[in-house]
Parts: sequence; structure tokens; C-alpha cells
Amino acid sequence: MRHMMSPLDFSVDELESMMDLAVQIENDPEKYAHVCDGKKIATLFYEPSTRTRLSFETAMLNLGGSVIGFSSASSSSATKGESVADTIRVVGTFADIAAIRHPKEGAPLVASQVSPIPVINAGDGGHQHPTQTLTDLFTIRSLRGKIHDLTIGLCGDLKFGRTVHSLITALIRYPNIRFVLISPEELRLPSYIREDVLDRNHIAYKEVTRLEDAIPELDILYMTRVQKERFFNEEDYVRMKDFYILDKEKMDLAKEDMYVLHPLPRVNEIAVEVDSDPRAAYFRQVRYGMYIREALIMTLLEVSVC
Ligand code: CP
Repeated sequence: MRHMMSPLDFSVDELESMMDLAVQIENDPEKYAHVCDGKKIATLFYEPSTRTRLSFETAMLNLGGSVIGFSSASSSSATKGESVADTIRVVGTFADIAAIRHPKEGAPLVASQVSPIPVINAGDGGHQHPTQTLTDLFTIRSLRGKIHDLTIGLCGDLKFGRTVHSLITALIRYPNIRFVLISPEELRLPSYIREDVLDRNHIAYKEVTRLEDAIPELDILYMTRVQKERFFNEEDYVRMKDFYILDKEKMDLAKEDMYVLHPLPRVNEIAVEVDSDPRAAYFRQVRYGMYIREALIMTLLEVSVC
């Protein structure tokens, strides 16, 4: 039985197959509408979510399955002190697969070690968000037709942004990917990723503070929100929150074929005026996320079309 804790749990070839399956689902959803008849997904969300939880639930419903779960720790027996390990043992008697989001790094991994069913990490603290990464890879491949020979700008909260950490870890396996890390000093990429992932693998990157300086050379601009919930004090958050605002003026400096991605939710970091720019791809990204989660569920449950 396989789980998904990190994008690295699957080889590049396996991810390619998953993306190929997502394309087939996108092109012919009817063909896949009953592949999970009788199956259930449990969405165990100890932290708030709009996209990830509803995307998993819609993905399973699209495949003919059904959904159980909770959307906050406060409505689960976690409030009575039940551990994540005990919870997955119990939920494993009801459901066929589970997606877990938890504020503590490693909680989904702990669950997977005792789970009778496949477990998907739907985001653990500031650590990883592998299905957002699948979404991001699939979006890049769909829009650019490739995941290689690209300059990718990552902008905003690179310190706490788990989507950025997951995406870097995944992208370094593709040829000739170069990163431009755009952040204020206080929100730089953690050294354990800069040194242990980028430096150790001889990946080309540079760090800059001004988005205006970086944007002309980018093929993809991945914007992120400053993560209020991970700050230790309100004052630091308020100081950082509007450091970057992507607006029409900055978009005018970008290439005609640069795409803007964002894992969402957006706060102020992309002005609403950018939404109508054909290069703004963040709402299309959400749709790609649903198809790739359908492909992931099918892969982990080892189901296919008859
Ligand atoms: N991208 C993402 O994880 O969004 P949610 O927090 O709404 O799930």
C-alpha cells in the first residue's frame, strides 16, 4: 500500500503517468465517472481549507465515490485528546483512503505508519503540501507543455510557505530548472532547503528582494501569501504582509508568455486588476488540481477504467 507524504514518494516517470491520466480525465470525465463506485474518501482537516478539502471531495465524487470527514479539529475527538494515529485506525474501518491536513509537521506521516488505508498529506504545518505540488507541476506542464528549461520565480513568504518548499523539492528533479527566490530578508527560504536541497544538488538560483528586478526574466511567477497563521507576533506580520503586490505595472515588465501561479488563497499580493490578464493562471490552476487529485486517488486505490 502506498501513501503520499511528499512529491518525492513518486518518481518523475510515475508523476508523468499520473499527469497523463489527469489529462485523460480532463478530456473525457464521463469515462471515469464510476471507477470509484462504492469507495469513500475521508477528509480529516485539523486546519482550515477551502480548495484542498473541496478539491479532494469533488475529485472523489467525480469518480463515483463518496466522502466522509471533518473540516476542523474542534468538531473531531481531537478536542478530547485522541491522537492522529488512533483517529486513522478508526477512520480506516470506514473509508478506503484519507487526506489529512494538520498544523503539526509530520502528523500525516505518523498516521500513515499505522494506517490500514492509503494516506495523503494535504498539508502539514510549514513542511510540505505535496498535492499542491502535483497541481503546480500539472499546471506548468499544461500551460508550458514541458517541465524543463524554465526560469521559475518564487515570490513572497518563502520561509513558512510549505507550497514553495514542496515545489522546489519536486522541481529539482527536472532538467535545467533555474530559480529566482524573491523575498524580504526575514522571509528567506530556510537554509535547510537552500543548502541541503539547492546547493547540494548544484541547482542554479539567485535571491533578490525586488520583484521588479526579477520579473522580466521569468517563465513562471509563483506568488505566495504571507502566512499570518505561522507568525509568532502580529507586528511582524503587519510589517511583512504587503511587501509584494503584483499589479498591472509590474506585469508590463514580464514576458508575453510568462504565467502567474498562486496556490491561493490570495490576500493582497496580487491586485484584482491582474485577474483579467491572460497570463494570470491561478484560477485555472485550481481546476488542474481537481483533475490531478482524481488521478492520485485512482493511483493510490489502484483502480482503472474497465
Ligand atoms: N492551496 C491551498 O492549500 O488552499 P486551501 O488552504 O484553501 O486548501
